[in-house]
Order: sequence, then C-alpha cells, then structure tokens
Amino acid sequence: MSSDPLVVFTPSGKRGYFPVGTPILTAARQLGVDLDSVCGGRGICSKCQITPSYGEFPKHGVTVRDGALSEWNAVEQRYQDKRGLKEGRRLGCQATVQGDVVIDVPPESQVHRQVVRKAATARTITMDPATHLYFVAVEEPDMHEPTGDLERLQRALKAQWGIGEVTADLSLLAKLQPALRKGEWKVTVALHKGHNDTSHRILEIWPGYSEERIYGLAIDLGSTTIAAHLCDLRNGEVKASSGLMNPQIRFGEDLMSRVSYSMMNPGGDREMTAAVREAINDLTRSIAAEGGIEPRQIVETVFVCNPVMHHLLLGLDPVELGQAPFALTTSDSLSLPAREMGLDAMNPRAQVYILPCIAGHVGADCAAVALSEEPGKSEDLVLIVDVGTNAEILLGNTTRVLACSSPTGPAFEGAQISSGQRAAPGAIERIEIDPVTKEPRFRVIGSDKWSDEEGFDTDIATTGITGICGSGIIEAVAEMRMAGLLDESGLIGSAEQTGTPRCVPEGRTHSYLLHDASETGGPRITVTQGDIRAIQLAKSALYAGARLLMDEMGVERVDRIVLAGAFGAHISTKHAMVLGMIPDAPLDKVTSAGNAAGTGARIALSNIGARAEIERVVREITKVETAIEPKFQDHFVAANAIPHKTDPFPDLYSVVTLPKVSFNTGGGDDDGSGRRRRRRA
Ligand code: FES
Repeated sequence: MSSDPLVVFTPSGKRGYFPVGTPILTAARQLGVDLDSVCGGRGICSKCQITPSYGEFPKHGVTVRDGALSEWNAVEQRYQDKRGLKEGRRLGCQATVQGDVVIDVPPESQVHRQVVRKAATARTITMDPATHLYFVAVEEPDMHEPTGDLERLQRALKAQWGIGEVTADLSLLAKLQPALRKGEWKVTVALHKGHNDTSHRILEIWPGYSEERIYGLAIDLGSTTIAAHLCDLRNGEVKASSGLMNPQIRFGEDLMSRVSYSMMNPGGDREMTAAVREAINDLTRSIAAEGGIEPRQIVETVFVCNPVMHHLLLGLDPVELGQAPFALTTSDSLSLPAREMGLDAMNPRAQVYILPCIAGHVGADCAAVALSEEPGKSEDLVLIVDVGTNAEILLGNTTRVLACSSPTGPAFEGAQISSGQRAAPGAIERIEIDPVTKEPRFRVIGSDKWSDEEGFDTDIATTGITGICGSGIIEAVAEMRMAGLLDESGLIGSAEQTGTPRCVPEGRTHSYLLHDASETGGPRITVTQGDIRAIQLAKSALYAGARLLMDEMGVERVDRIVLAGAFGAHISTKHAMVLGMIPDAPLDKVTSAGNAAGTGARIALSNIGARAEIERVVREITKVETAIEPKFQDHFVAANAIPHKTDPFPDLYSVVTLPKVSFNTGGGDDDGSGRRRRRRA
C-alpha cells in the first residue's frame, strides 16, 4: 500500500494516493473527478471550490485529522476578502494534500452538474454544453522567434488545457491582439466544439480573467408561436423565457398555406424567411434584456421546428414539402454559424444547432419531443401527443417507436375560433356548464377565481374578459357536450331543444352565449357552430393520427398518454377525452408534459451527448406519413363525432355520462361538410 496520503472524493467515491503537496485540483483531474476550473488553477476563478471533511469515515476507511490540507493561503484570503467563500470551503487549486482526506465537490463546482427539470417527470439534464470558457496565459512575442499571436494562443491552450486544434474566424482575429495586450498576455476565451467537430472554434475573447457568463437560446419555432428559453451555459439555469407570435401568420395561418404562398408568389419564401429571422432577432434582443444580459453573451442557439419552418428559417424553399413525396432538402441535423442564417442580434460568432427532422412532415420538433420524453425507453406503450398547429404524435416503447404528424390547424391555439385568442390575461381558460341550469361559469387567465365567486370582478378589472384561449375552447366544447347542448355529431341545439335561452340562433345554426358585456361596450363571447366544426376538424386529425400509429403497431389500446405542447400542460385531460381528442385510456394514465419540444431543445443546448443521441434515435424511428395513408381518412371521418362514432370509450364512460341528444332536424344546421374536409396544416 502507498505511504502517500489517501484522497477520497465525494459524491463520486473516486479515490487515490497522492504525494504530500499535491493540489486537490490536480488530484481530482488525475482521478477524473468532475471539478471545475476556468483559470487553470491560478486562484482567480473560484470555480474549483471544495469542502474538506474531518473526522472518522469508516465507510471510506479513513480518519481525517486537522492539517490534512495545507494552511489557508493568501490567494484564498484575497478571494475571501473580495467575494467571500462559503463556510468550510477551500479553493481546490490552492489547498494541497498533507494527510488522508475526504473532499466533497459541491454541485456548483461540478462541470457536468445535473439540472433537474421542473416538469412532471424527474428527468435531469447533465450539463455538457458545446461551449466552455478557458483562462489562458500566452507567451509574449519574441523578435528572435517570430510567431503570430494566434499561434502562441493555440500553443498555450494545448499546453495548459490539452486542447488540440483551435480555429478563429476573421472577426475574432480582429479582437485578438488588443485583448492579449490589454490582458497583459492573459485572456479568457469561449471555445466551441460541437459533437461532430474535430477542432475547437474561438467564439469570444476577453482580456485577462473574465467573469462574463455565456448563454444559449433554446428556441421552439412553431407555426403560430416562437418560444425561447435563455439558458446559462454554465449551470443550465433558465434566466428568462419569452415568446412571440410567428410573423409568418400574415402569409398563411397554417403550414400548407405558407407553402402555397411560396408556390404562388415568386420570392414568397424569401419574404417569409426574412420575417421569421427578423422576429428571432427581436426575440433575442428582448429575451436578453429580460434576462439582464447583453445579446452578444448569447453564443449558442438550438432550434426545434417542423419541416416547413425548418426550411423557411434556413432560407430553403419549402415548395417540395407541399407535395408527395414530401422531400426535405436535408433531414440531418445542422450545425452552422448564426450569421449565415441572418441571425445577427446575438454574438457575431454564435453557433446554431438544428435537430434532425424525422421525415417530410415529421420535423425536428417531433425529434425534440422524442429526446425529452424518451418513448423508446418506456416499458409500457406510451402515446405522446404534442398539440400545436400541427400535432406531432409518437407511439412506442422499448421495442419500437413510430411517429407521424397530423394537420390539426390552429384551432387548438385559439385561432379560427370566433372569440378565440392567445393564452393571455383576460382569456377564458376554464369553463364549467351546469348540466341542469345550463348556466356557465368560467375562469380567466390572471385570476384564480371562478366567475361566480366573490372578488372575480375586482381581479379582472384591469384585464377584462377578452376571449377564449385554446384550453378554454376545448373545455367549452366538452362541457357543452356533457350538458346536452351539443349532440354527438357536433350540432348545437336551439333554445327549445336545450331548454336554455343561451342557445341563440345565428344564421341557420345556433351559438352558445358564454358571456355578454355588449351593453357596457364589452365583448359578446359565444361558441358558434363554426367553432365547433373547427374543433371537430382539429380533434379528428389528432385522433386519426394517433389511431394510424396504433394500427401500425397492431394495438387497440395504449397504456398511457402524454399530452405535450405549449398548452398541453393546461388541457384538462377529462375534457380532452370527452372531446375525443385522444384515444381512450384510464384518466389517471393521461398526463401533461408541458412544452416537451422546448425541453428537448434545452436538453440539446445543455448537453452535446444528447445531440448525438437524438441523431441516433431519429434513425430508428419508423415514420408514418398520414397524407398518403388511405386509412387516415376513414379514421378522420369516424373521429368527427364527439367523442367518436365507432370506437368505444370504456374508460371515459366509466367516469362520465354523456346525454343522448340529437339536434339534427334535417335542416337548419350546417351540412356537416366540414367533416369531410381534409387539410394539411
Ligand atoms: S481553478 Fe480557478 S480558482 Fe481554483
């Protein structure tokens, strides 16, 4: 056995014998312990903080005595005076081994620290981003041995950090000499190395040791909304989350109308590309301001998006995606400079990673959901539905994963609904209809009181009641069905048929009056027959997509269902089931995952290993193309009824009774043609 002292690291349990005088940072590196350092052991960055433990440790077979580490030194004192160190902490690069010792590495000092997702599942993200900061001391130039500053920086990175090939673009070279001289030949650099790169690229340089933080954006670029998270690339902390409407809506609400716009208008694709890039630049500036950082501190961005958005973002004409065989220009992941995509609000050398697409209609957003929800690791058969303008649907377990995309249109997001609006303060988000009196009560975003509760009016005094958002319209339709105001075919009954004056005639059809403030100049909010039809189309497309995957898998039932999507978290699972949006399943087996695509983007931003993983997973996913599958149409038509024409819903009917009403009097209603209309949104 070695006569050198034993050093045991926790929580890793790694241990080894080291000569007296070895810095703890050196011991950690030799054992492969995850202990951070930006300054390379110079006592500047304080990232190497550790906590020595003293006393008996039978578990490790050591006794740690006073004096097991070297005395507190001047560098530590200076840091303590300037910034303060937590009680009991030492700097790992300064404290040296003097005797057997147990060293705890706190989470903040671990490079690959784990970030716990706040969503329903306990999934953790291990930090291993593509960009890291390094502090380095560079040799001064010498007339007798002429070399360039970049070459000496490269040599220093190799010698001090073991980093091989390093490249720098022209804009970085322009900053190199001033930074080196100002920092007296010491600089901090941000080095980027993607999972497929062979060399590092210098993204940013600061004179001396820089405390500046670097950030990344995880962007879920949807047809209707663009949602972004600003993440600290050191610890994964989400500094700000923000979103805006996709300005391409003015060229068409759904994807196919944008493809048509491109087909019909020469240069239309370029117009849409310019619009979305400008919006992302605006979002970059606003989210940076919200997070209290400079936009140039954003050095990386990960995008997830559907194939049409993918092409329009990249400046590729999406016209081929509008017709079979729906060929993508490329389905592989892409790593490229942000500048090349016209994203110039962030750091001028920022790098972009776009997840791979699965197929012509199944995009990188679906890949991101697969990365976040990991259906391929599920023992039971899970159906994951990411509800948006296009629904991304995954079905799988450890044996096989299938994916498709279904054209739901924007109705679930409150668009194409007469009183529909985005989920914002003032929007009705929850609705209940009394089955006896047929009277509604509701809740609006911005207040946690129901409309018939005391204090509701005060709560909403500033926002007012402005419309119905996506989750609100789903509840409204389901509640109307449960209250007998709506029959199985989706027809709203008249006042006589339903027994409530809230069912008012509107042309040849009827509407249900939810809220009327027209006397005081406020809105009159109704659910119209057209709204019901829009929701029926959307939910039929969703259900038919899910059924198609179940057919392909050869199953009649799934074990559990995960509702994802920006508003997936807000959908009431019971109402979704009454509506027949999703196949029957025990209600306690239907859960929400929030914005799974956005989470997938965050994972890919935080961990380069996850990028390699999703690229592998995507190759193994079986794609099902809904547009050319004849059974889709059959499923679509059958799914038009509420909840469904033929499929039994035993789990649903065990908890809910739906009134047997029929309002089809052979006239006075719409002809139901909407049911046979098929769109690809
Ligand atoms: S490694 Fe930077 S202070 Fe110790």
